[in-house]
Amino acid sequence: MDKLLISGGKPLAGEIRISGAKNSALPILAGTLLVDGKAILSNLPHLHDITTMIELLGCLGVHVVVDENMLVEVDSRPVTGFTAPYDLVKTMRASILVLGPLVARFGEANVSFPGGCQIGSRPVDLHLRGLEMMGATIEIDGGYIRARAPKGLRGSHIFLDTVTVGGTENLMMAASLARGKTVIENAAREPEIVDLAKFINAMGGDVRGAGTDTLTINGVEKLSGGSYRIMPDRIETGTYLAAAAATRGRVKLKDTDPRLLEAVILKLEEAGAEVTQGDDWITLDTKGKRPRAVSLKTAPYPAFPTDMQSQLMTVIAVSEGVGRVIETIFENRLIQAHELNRMGAAISLEGNTAIVTGVEKLKGAPVMASDLRASASLVIAGLVAEGETLVDRIYHIDRGYECIEEKLQQLGADIRRVTS
Ligand code: UD1
Repeated sequence: MDKLLISGGKPLAGEIRISGAKNSALPILAGTLLVDGKAILSNLPHLHDITTMIELLGCLGVHVVVDENMLVEVDSRPVTGFTAPYDLVKTMRASILVLGPLVARFGEANVSFPGGCQIGSRPVDLHLRGLEMMGATIEIDGGYIRARAPKGLRGSHIFLDTVTVGGTENLMMAASLARGKTVIENAAREPEIVDLAKFINAMGGDVRGAGTDTLTINGVEKLSGGSYRIMPDRIETGTYLAAAAATRGRVKLKDTDPRLLEAVILKLEEAGAEVTQGDDWITLDTKGKRPRAVSLKTAPYPAFPTDMQSQLMTVIAVSEGVGRVIETIFENRLIQAHELNRMGAAISLEGNTAIVTGVEKLKGAPVMASDLRASASLVIAGLVAEGETLVDRIYHIDRGYECIEEKLQQLGADIRRVTS
């Protein structure tokens, strides 16, 4: 199994390019099931989760052609199957995103029920309730969600009890082929929702209000195809900024969109880093200084993203002072604290709050990645720590970070992949 071996203690310095956004590419790939024609996608990141989604489309009968630049041509006209099998869904919960498109376009979908995962129980009740409101019948049978709408879906007025990114995406996609108008209230406002809406509109759909908490979707007869470029990955961007802040370095990140990262940039500035930004680039410079501790609370966009919480925890762990990290989205997402403590951090957990007392130094140690973003926090800790850190179970990292060791090497880090 692959591991990452990091020899820490060097400030990151240099520039790299940011990849396309995983959390945009996944729903957009699922959204190609709505298209009665060809969808051409660019700026897809080269990641395990993307390969899994392409494999899932393939098993439904979709034709997918990927060229060497990751330009992907998707043709869902030949679809013959409507089942997302357990084997794929268990490796990637985002497989649930094919549910809405399949039932909207073909009147039928069978998707293995995604279980919980390391970071929490992650139910999909709101996805299912919304589809029922649009006229689908839903049965849970043999571990599968079976959705049926033989006469098509109809527009509806939906209020989401909890702000859910995946739920908003599934229902937006389903509504784009429903008869009439759908209004989704208390919708998620994440930039990935905006990207998906732009994709649907580029294919011939009519989604309005994306980026606000009320979406209005006028269903169309069909989406007939077109081209779309996936937006840059804001979480990858934030992760490299956090790595630079923790190692007292300076980095320039290109092909990104700093406007999507306001809450994260504010925290890094509060920690003492100097940030400058242009339309598609951002730089962070610590001037070699140790960060100051900051406190943060995760919440839906535009507040501080849960997907950046663990990386900032590592920054705070080596800061001057004490910071509190409150996680409000997922119930079990502070677990990286235990691994960080094995490296010399001083973090105590009280319910959904981590109290992080900054230490001068971390010490390299063998550590175990438990989920995607937690693994990124351990890599950052390894970059800061004195001595060697061996990060195990890095398949989590490969799900979400394109060429992480190459990019970090470009920034001067001593990191390599080892197989044992
Ligand atoms: C997406 C992101 C993930 C990110 C998360 C929150 C993708 C592929 N994944 O996950 O990286 O951490 O948003 O920003 O884009 N909930 C319910 N019922 C539902 C659905 C959700 O109670 O039917 C709850 C969840 O348990 C959680 C909260 O709502 O507590 C937010 O989850 P949600 O926004 O749906 O996360 P995902 O879409 O799974």
